Amino acid sequence: MNKKYIFPENFWWGSATSGPQSEGTFNKRHKSVFDYWYEVEPEAFFDKVGPEITSNFYNSYKEDLAMLKEIGLNSFRTSIQWTRLIKDLETGEPDEDGVRFYNDVIDETIKNGMIPVMNLHHFDLPVELYNKYGGWTSKHVVELFVKFAETAFKLFGDRVKYWTTFNEPMVVVEGQYLYEFHYPKLVDGEKAVQAMYNINLASAKAIKRFRELGCTEDGGKIGIVLNLTPAYPRSNNKDDLYASKVADTIFNYSFLDPAVKGEFPSLLINLLKEDNILWESTEEELQIIKDNTIDFLGVNYYQPRRVKAKESEIDNTKGWMPEKYFDYYDMPGKRMNPYRGWEIYPEAMYDIAINIRDNYNNIPWYISENGMGVEGEEKYIGEDGSIQDDYRIEFLEEHLQYLHKGIEEGSNCFGYHSWTPIDCWSWCNAYKNRYGYIAVDLATQKKTIKKSGTWIKEVSSNNGF
Ligand code: GAL
Repeated sequence: MNKKYIFPENFWWGSATSGPQSEGTFNKRHKSVFDYWYEVEPEAFFDKVGPEITSNFYNSYKEDLAMLKEIGLNSFRTSIQWTRLIKDLETGEPDEDGVRFYNDVIDETIKNGMIPVMNLHHFDLPVELYNKYGGWTSKHVVELFVKFAETAFKLFGDRVKYWTTFNEPMVVVEGQYLYEFHYPKLVDGEKAVQAMYNINLASAKAIKRFRELGCTEDGGKIGIVLNLTPAYPRSNNKDDLYASKVADTIFNYSFLDPAVKGEFPSLLINLLKEDNILWESTEEELQIIKDNTIDFLGVNYYQPRRVKAKESEIDNTKGWMPEKYFDYYDMPGKRMNPYRGWEIYPEAMYDIAINIRDNYNNIPWYISENGMGVEGEEKYIGEDGSIQDDYRIEFLEEHLQYLHKGIEEGSNCFGYHSWTPIDCWSWCNAYKNRYGYIAVDLATQKKTIKKSGTWIKEVSSNNGF
């Protein structure tokens, strides 16, 4: 490599995890939908490994955060679990041990020289709120989320300056209501659409509370983390182009537009109206969405979405599904990550950067997740006992090169977080694919820095590579 890639001053070199994927369920007050699902159907999880222990962060956060410092990270995102922080879900009253734990995590993060980024929802709805109210299809649950958010802002807003309301809300819609990969595994387009709206509303209402509480006055900022999966058409033929436009609108812009511009895309509204499944909304709610847009955006990018014009018969057996508007396109010759079954397409980093620059007011943003999940990494252990994950270094460098190009051309990106610092629990995949800079031995909970951990330290200290 001849060219040097140097990033803007104060660039975030960090990494992200979430509460439910790293802490373990120790001492939690409530069960999330995942805790409950594992209880009733453990065989749905890879090797039947559940959320009880995960990477033991609840007990080992001090040592873990010190290791993050050791690999040179200057920022760190995790999430506050609703099911841990809140004692009374109706009032938002906090739990003493939950408060103690998150206070310690935040203080330790800062003590180790890292900026804490705290997210409020990472797929982990308290299962009681699904059983009692139907979860995200209920506007009462929206109100309860705002109470939880308010409790968190009041408790930690003095030290946490970067907040995000939701992580990948579209995945909640897809997993819970369309494609059956999150509990309660429904296939129900109408509910999916209502949940999509309600989560947008919940985010805007939490942002409103944040500002009313004065959290912005001493530099607090609030955003959202979205998984952007740019849709690429098979060809430039107009039907293929339309297919990709609809896919982008449903999967990406349904959250990006309200978050940044305060409005849902008109194409989305028109399609849902025509299909007779538009959500229930009020003028007042839409005004709240309009008035409470984000300060910054987090983008999780793993893979693109390849689509073509609808050629197959529309399958009506499942009711309304986004796929009535397009077919997936199996592009010949695409590069694959064989473990995760995801396409590798680093060029999308540049496309995302330019899209934000040109169509989303060049809002300040960062890559909040990007990474490579690999199964069976033990086989790459080198003589010194550490995993030689050169494939990961190569993956990350390629993605960073395209991000760099976007920044050079004026995109307002202020950081890069990989997924994830320490191998963690990936929902139904449990510990099948590992993503970390640091390996965890599940039998002993011993944590060992991989070669990529040494690499990121260099990158971070040189602000580039
Ligand atoms: C993302 C998600 C993370 C993590 C990652 C890797 O979509 O935000 O929680 O699981 O995928 O699988």
